[in-house]
Amino acid sequence: MTPLEKKAIEVLNKNWKGNFSIPCENLYPFQWFWDSGLIAIGFAHFDMSKAEKEIFTLLDAQWDNGFIPHIVFHSETDSYFPGADFHHSSLHPQASKKYKTTGITQPPVTGFVLEELYRISSDKEATLNFIKTVIDKVYFNHEYFYNNRDPKDEGLIYIYHNWESGTDNSPIWDDIWETMNPPEYTFERRDTTHVDASQRPSKREYDHYLHIIEIAKEHNYNDQKIAELSPFLVQDPLFNALLIKSNESLIKLYHLIENNEEKIKQLHNWQSKAIHSFNTKLFDEEIGAYIHYDLRNEKPLKYLSSSSFSPLFAGIPNKQRATSMIKLMLDKFGGDHQYLCASFDPTSDRFNPKKYWRGPVWINLNWMLYRGVSEYEYEDVAERIKKDSIEIIEKNGFYEYFDSRKEIHEKENAGYGGNNFSWSAALLIDLIR
Ligand code: DGY
Repeated sequence: MTPLEKKAIEVLNKNWKGNFSIPCENLYPFQWFWDSGLIAIGFAHFDMSKAEKEIFTLLDAQWDNGFIPHIVFHSETDSYFPGADFHHSSLHPQASKKYKTTGITQPPVTGFVLEELYRISSDKEATLNFIKTVIDKVYFNHEYFYNNRDPKDEGLIYIYHNWESGTDNSPIWDDIWETMNPPEYTFERRDTTHVDASQRPSKREYDHYLHIIEIAKEHNYNDQKIAELSPFLVQDPLFNALLIKSNESLIKLYHLIENNEEKIKQLHNWQSKAIHSFNTKLFDEEIGAYIHYDLRNEKPLKYLSSSSFSPLFAGIPNKQRATSMIKLMLDKFGGDHQYLCASFDPTSDRFNPKKYWRGPVWINLNWMLYRGVSEYEYEDVAERIKKDSIEIIEKNGFYEYFDSRKEIHEKENAGYGGNNFSWSAALLIDLIR
């Protein structure tokens, strides 16, 4: 085992809290939905029981309507804002009675994570037995999305909050903030006591984030009301690509489990509608990749980001389209002076290589792009993404995100946000195994 892998295992074990993991100390002291899923992939390589427990705990917080929250507040710490009391998700009649949670969700990774656990497992029978105990919860979650988050029956799910996207402060959302004018709330940020404010969203951005949640709370987190009233209502290519990827994994796993024909049929129905709409509505010919669609204001958000390439991970583009997207990624994001893959278009004036999702490289997106590009058999590009991911961790540590400009790494620490960050460690293990 290499020293880097050993360190990665230490990071994961340190962030393990008995039956779930935190993304990192102080900054993120609870369990986060998509973090949890990706962390389980890392654990699966050296401690399958922790991987299973991670997923079990996450799904234990599922609401009675199938919804899975983006944060499960396992403790009372006030080192994070906004905490459980702000979110007050028990306003929803079907919210978890067992755990305090948020009333927003996050990218649905759980389906493909279960398939990853099965792939990695050296005891397939035992892992399949675990999968049998949780897979219907994941299916129920997908059913929740298609029944409640697709008002026009397009097979594309909306998100109603930037925190649901996972790409929290992407410059794409700036267009939506321009349509809103929230009050200036008084509150105490906690994130900027742990991390340099220049690497985090601004106070004014937080006003918008809180305002959307206030609107949802006024209506007890009712999905119909949110679809009617939320100023933020977006069809996000990353979120939908991960749902499609997860649908595909559920189909494969249900085939192994047997006696699930009805569910397999339903999953195929969702897939054909979703993939068709995805390729017609979310692909932008001018940009040459997939983009976000603002459902509230009925307009495409014409920006290139790492999310634009994420459909490669779910096999959504045909070979020809994939080829031109990979070329575009290399041309704009992959010059000799750059690490792949910046989270936002480096040629845009909204690009900021230090600020969270406005430019830095993220290991989770890199892992997805690595997998996607390999599936389309561009091995050299896949290897480049893998090499870049390992190199930025080796140089800086297991940070949350990294500067995409190579020269910065020569001069100073170019890892930003939280340190000893779980998914950077988890996915590094998967990349090098
Ligand atoms: C944060 O607090 O920035 C989290 O990422 C929200 O999920």
